[in-house]
Formats: sequence, C-alpha cells, structure tokens
Amino acid sequence: MRRRRSLMTHTNKMTDTNGHSDHYKPRAFPHGFLWGTATSSYQVEGGNVRADWHAFEQQGGKIADGTTCGRGVDHWRLWKRDFEMLQKGLHNNAYRLSVEWSRLETAPGVWDEEAFSHYRDMLCDLKARGVTVMLTLHHFTNPAWLAQRRGWETGYAMRRFCLFTEKVVETLGAYVDLWITINEPMVYVLEGYVMAEWPPQKKSKMLAVRVLWNMARAHRGAYRVIHRSSTRHGRKAMVGMASNVSSFHSYYKHRLLDQISVALIDRFTNHLFYMLTGMKTHDFLGLNYYFHLRLKSVWHYVRSFMFGTANEQFPVDFESSDIGWELFPHGIFDVCVDLKVYKKPIYITENGLATENDDKRLRSLIGYLVQLHHAIQAGADVRGYFHWSLLDNFEWAKGYAPKFGLVGVDRRTMERTPRASAEIYGLIAKDNAIDHDFLRFLGHGTRHILADWKRGR
Ligand code: BGC
Repeated sequence: MRRRRSLMTHTNKMTDTNGHSDHYKPRAFPHGFLWGTATSSYQVEGGNVRADWHAFEQQGGKIADGTTCGRGVDHWRLWKRDFEMLQKGLHNNAYRLSVEWSRLETAPGVWDEEAFSHYRDMLCDLKARGVTVMLTLHHFTNPAWLAQRRGWETGYAMRRFCLFTEKVVETLGAYVDLWITINEPMVYVLEGYVMAEWPPQKKSKMLAVRVLWNMARAHRGAYRVIHRSSTRHGRKAMVGMASNVSSFHSYYKHRLLDQISVALIDRFTNHLFYMLTGMKTHDFLGLNYYFHLRLKSVWHYVRSFMFGTANEQFPVDFESSDIGWELFPHGIFDVCVDLKVYKKPIYITENGLATENDDKRLRSLIGYLVQLHHAIQAGADVRGYFHWSLLDNFEWAKGYAPKFGLVGVDRRTMERTPRASAEIYGLIAKDNAIDHDFLRFLGHGTRHILADWKRGR
C-alpha cells in the first residue's frame, strides 16, 4: 500500500496506521530547523592566487590526483546559478560559505573593495531568497603574505585576523546570521604541523601547540570583535567555530585501561579547543562530523598522534566512503548527546562522504539524519544540518577525485548535475521531515526510491 502525503505532517509520536514498524515512521524535525549545505571559498571559487595553498601547489605541493585547484568549480562566476539550485532544487533554507581572506586583504591593511562588493552581492542574493547565512572567516587558507610572516606561529596572525574580522563584520555583517570564526583548527594543525602534508608542511610538535594556542586566542578575539561591532550596528550576532568531532569506541570494552583511554582521547580531541577558548566565547557549537575511531590500544592513539600513523584497522566489516572513511551514523548521535553538557545550541556544520556511488551517499545521509533526529529526541538542542557539500570540489591534498557533492560538476564544462540524492535531500528539507518511503525503501537504490515516492503522490 502506498502511503499518503498526510503522513508527512504527523509527528513521530504518532503511530503508523499502516502498521509499519517504528523503524520506518516519518521523522519530523523541530520547527525552524535549518537544512543547508556547506562549501568553502578555496575549494569552490577558483582563482584564489593570493592564498598560501596556491603557492604550495605552485611550489610542487603534493596533490594525490595530480590536479591543482585552479578554477575550482567556478563558483566565483556561477554563484547565482548555484544559489538558484540551492533554493529551488534543494529547498535549502540555509547555506554555509566562507570568505577568502587572501582575496579581501591583498596586503596587510590593503582591502580589495571590489571583492567585498562581490561577496556583498552573493550574501544579499541569499538573503533575498530567504536563506539563513552561516559565514566562515577562516577555512584552512591564509593570505600568502601572512604565510611569509610565519603564519599562525606568532601572535601577528591573531592580530591581523581580528582586524580582518572587524572589516568583514563592518562590510558584510548585515547579511550574516551565524558566524564561524575558524574551521577545524585541530585539523589545520594536524595536517600542517603534525603530518605536514598541507602548507606550511612543518613537522614540529612545538609549533603545532603554538599554532593551536594562537588560533584559540584568535577565536576569542574575533568573538569579541563580532559582538562589539554588531552591537554598534544594532544587530544581534551568533558566533561559534566549526570543530571536527569524532566518535570513539574501545575495541576491548571490558578493559578498564582502554575505557579510560577512550575518555581521555575524547577530552583531548572533541573538547580541547573548547577548553582553550572557554565556553563563554561560543554562542553555539558547530560540529563537523566525519570520523568514528575504534581504539584497540591506548598506545596506538599516542603513536598515531606522535608519528601520524593512520586509524587502527580491525578485522570487522564496515562500510566506508571512497576514501576509506568509515560510515558510522550512530556516531553523530553519540557526539551530539555527549556535547549536550555545554547547554548550547548545536549545528552540524559539516557531514557527508566522498563517493561515486549515489545510492551509498543517500543511504549514509538518511542514516545520519535518523540518528540526528534521535539525538534531538534525547534532548540535544540541534538546530540545523549542513551537508558537505553542495558541489563536488577541491578536496585539498586529495584533489578533485573525491566526489563530496550532492551536485556533480563536470570540470571541463563546469556543468552542474544534481544527483538523485540532492533531490531527496531537497524533499526532506522541504517537508522538514524524513518521509516514510525514504526509510522504508532505503537500500533499493536512489532512483528507485524517488520513482516510487513520486508514484505515491
Ligand atoms: C573540511 C572540508 C573538507 C571536508 C572533507 C572538513 O574537514 O572542513 O574543507 O573538504 O572535511 O574532507
């Protein structure tokens, strides 16, 4: 029997009159929930030749698939078309993007007003479409001039970042609803100073600690700057950062030592930046969730931090993305419920997977959303979800090979093709709920689910 549309408006407290198990009941999200997608400037815009990443690529920095960022996916030029798709195709009521510091401040204190006005047009367009704007100020890239002055290794970066923040708030603040100061400082430090695969490629634990500390200071400074400047303009600001959080579990659940080590590792990763900045400088928690780590021994994790070795491998069969990251939807429940202790609103600022297999993308997406819904039921104040990513894009040292986009991009023609998962995500966003059919027929193939769902309407 086909279900009728009316079920979509039921809350999940209602029982399914068709006698379907709880498992397939539609999941309705709280009123006003934000359904969005996320991108970052360097990964999509193209032409960011003043960034340290560009210099890194020019100087022979290793990109796994032999590409360079180059034109990106031409978002700088095609943004209007992309926003049209975001609003009308994906029914997103929110979008997370970043501004490229190196584009806006071409030399210390020298502002490119044209670039500001370009961003103003973009943000203004999003607002006109009724889209909530989440703006990131730092997403891994730096102006080359800053990198030449030892980047985040000194307090200079923090001072410059605060001045940059002030200018952005003054110029673009009227269009921003939610601010992200820094994206994933821990990843920045790990990739740039521990594994040394990203610029500035310096293997130094001392510098890693110093950079993290400077980023924490910069977050605190930017938090104050945004609030001060917004208040001056009679606006209310909401400020946070995007933290990479992982879920952990111990392989040997019965071993006390391993249980303790999991708890310590959790503090050291998921909570560290909050400890460094203090919770007063976070109006909300921005969480990027991708990783589930199974820890077999305390020493493995210590070793992997010290020497940059990979996630522990186990003789278990788990599903993973094309780049080998385990898909573990339950983990998003765990982190949201764990971070409830801070009593702050939570936004999932990133979650997604790289895959050429769109059925897998959809299965994973719905799996994560069901767990997120579950976390809300368990009392986590989750207010929005931003899927990574709207478009296929430049995946840093992995190049363009990994496909993270709900929308595919042909980089030769720059043509955009929404995948079937984009359409289903759009239907979920539109209904503010996960339809029964999407749960019931999950695993039957994306196109099949969509066709089936359309027949039922
Ligand atoms: C980053 C993105 C990146 C994504 C997938 C996040 O850590 O913020 O820039 O593309 O993960 O790797």
